[in-house]
Amino acid sequence: MEMLEAIAAQGHEQVIAFQDGPSRLRGFLAIHSTRRGPALGGVRALRYAREQDALADALKLSRAMTLKCALAELPAGGGKAVLVDHPGLARRPAFEAFGRLVESLDGRFSTGPDVGIRAADLDAIGRATAHVARENDPRLGDVAQHTAMGVSHALRACLEWRGVPPRGARVVIQGVGHVGRWLARILATVGCDLVVTDADPARARRVARAVGAKVVHPARALFATCDVLAPCALGGILDARTIPRLRTGIVCGAANNQLATPEDGERLARRGILYAPDFLANAGGVIRGAEYMLLRRASSWKSLEQIHDRMLDIARRAERERCSTARVAESLALSRTRVGR
Ligand code: NAI
Repeated sequence: MEMLEAIAAQGHEQVIAFQDGPSRLRGFLAIHSTRRGPALGGVRALRYAREQDALADALKLSRAMTLKCALAELPAGGGKAVLVDHPGLARRPAFEAFGRLVESLDGRFSTGPDVGIRAADLDAIGRATAHVARENDPRLGDVAQHTAMGVSHALRACLEWRGVPPRGARVVIQGVGHVGRWLARILATVGCDLVVTDADPARARRVARAVGAKVVHPARALFATCDVLAPCALGGILDARTIPRLRTGIVCGAANNQLATPEDGERLARRGILYAPDFLANAGGVIRGAEYMLLRRASSWKSLEQIHDRMLDIARRAERERCSTARVAESLALSRTRVGR
């Protein structure tokens, strides 16, 4: 699809392509919607093979942020920035330049951490703009921990819906980075039988030792027999090829855009697998971000508990309407986006 057509098809308000010569910064910033309020969305830095992949990621991720904020009933919209990581990138000046871009948007877009971002990158952005959630800001707290806590509430609801007690429930966590490792800790406290995997084997072993989990090879994790598969790495892992081979009753994790295509939500439903829509389950971080940046509130773990009730509501509606949880969650979120604030 042509670039402008792809942008129009998903209804984005604005997409900015940016570069900074001296630091060799390149990337895209997509604002999907500001109808409910300023766009919130992290910044991601990845080694994209092609420019189109980076743009496609920015478009998809920013739309997911709109859905996430709408479903969580936040006075915020969706955006996302994607930087092309490469060996020649001078990180400090690059992130300072990116910060100046964010500042020029005058509060229409606020950002925070995502995959491939270090605390020092956020500090560099913060030298140019206040519209950034910095990892080491004690007033904000740990965003990944809030995300993981939200996922754990969605997961609890899924287990309840399926009548599986949390103690002894086998949960496979794919990716034990910032969010996955918090999720492992939280689930260990309620007695889940944990299996972890990571592309970085030393990281998987470290987390497994800390929480008493088993380790599985990344190539086998997706297809391991379990009660819950918790994708906490990258998106696009659930598709026509992988879904028939899943051996889980529930998919509930933090990764953004887990479904490769919208039809994959129906595929999961047809197989009888309960899917916690990612933009519902992983909203804990943005809820915390909105509380801090827009609502100026202190951290409230209580607000994350609503993710449990929302998950049960979506499961009920999907059963009643005989369609997938993915479709129910998306149409509910879109209806809230159309109405605006
Ligand atoms: P991270 O980069 O800290 O962790 C990702 C982990 O997955 C890394 O340890 C990486 O080695 C591992 N990994 C990558 N590919 C893998 C594979 N094929 N198999 C196994 N492990 C693999 O990222 P973070 O912050 O933990 O985020 C995880 C996911 O959750 C991402 O999709 C992100 O977009 C999403 N998310 C994160 C939020 C946050 O608060 N950090 C908020 C909402 C969503």
